[in-house]
Amino acid sequence: MSRAVCPGSFDPVTHGHLDIVRRASRLFDEVVVAIGVNKSKSRLFDPDERIAMLERACAPFDNVRVDGFTGLLTTYCAEHDVQAIVKGLRAVSDFDYELQMAQMNDSLTGVDTVFLPTSPEFSFVSSSLVKEVATFGGDVSAFVPDFVHTALLERLAARREAGEA
Ligand code: PNS
Repeated sequence: MSRAVCPGSFDPVTHGHLDIVRRASRLFDEVVVAIGVNKSKSRLFDPDERIAMLERACAPFDNVRVDGFTGLLTTYCAEHDVQAIVKGLRAVSDFDYELQMAQMNDSLTGVDTVFLPTSPEFSFVSSSLVKEVATFGGDVSAFVPDFVHTALLERLAARREAGEA
């Protein structure tokens, strides 16, 4: 059985992520959306919230499940019999860093990385930009699932009320 991971921070999940997950689910028998929960960046949503969002967003895909991981992605792949890492490439600007990570991951455990070109309608969409635009009142409803949009607006409002944003 072929098994791949779609790794990411997913803070929050966007339609761009889900496009890659959907397409990976057609290429592999099983896809694990692996949510990195290392404490390296400040996140808007905590690990449990991100896992719950991904579980809801991926419910339509029969062969996709969601998991969180800490530590190295290659360790997760080795421990869970994962043969491939699937990454979306939005633009040339993504390529340098993604290539570097793919080569590092290969050198660590021999796990391969498969790059999928992002669908053009999502080529400018990222979680970071979605958060930034939403923080300043821009309409990001086209870029995330409706329930994520609601959660995003609620979280930003709560942060503003708490004087954190
Ligand atoms: O959505 P992101 O933030 O681009 O996801 C990055 C992620 C989580 C896929 C990447 O940071 C990662 O693989 N982190 C786990 C730690 C690790 O394995 N680091 C070495 C990468 S070569």
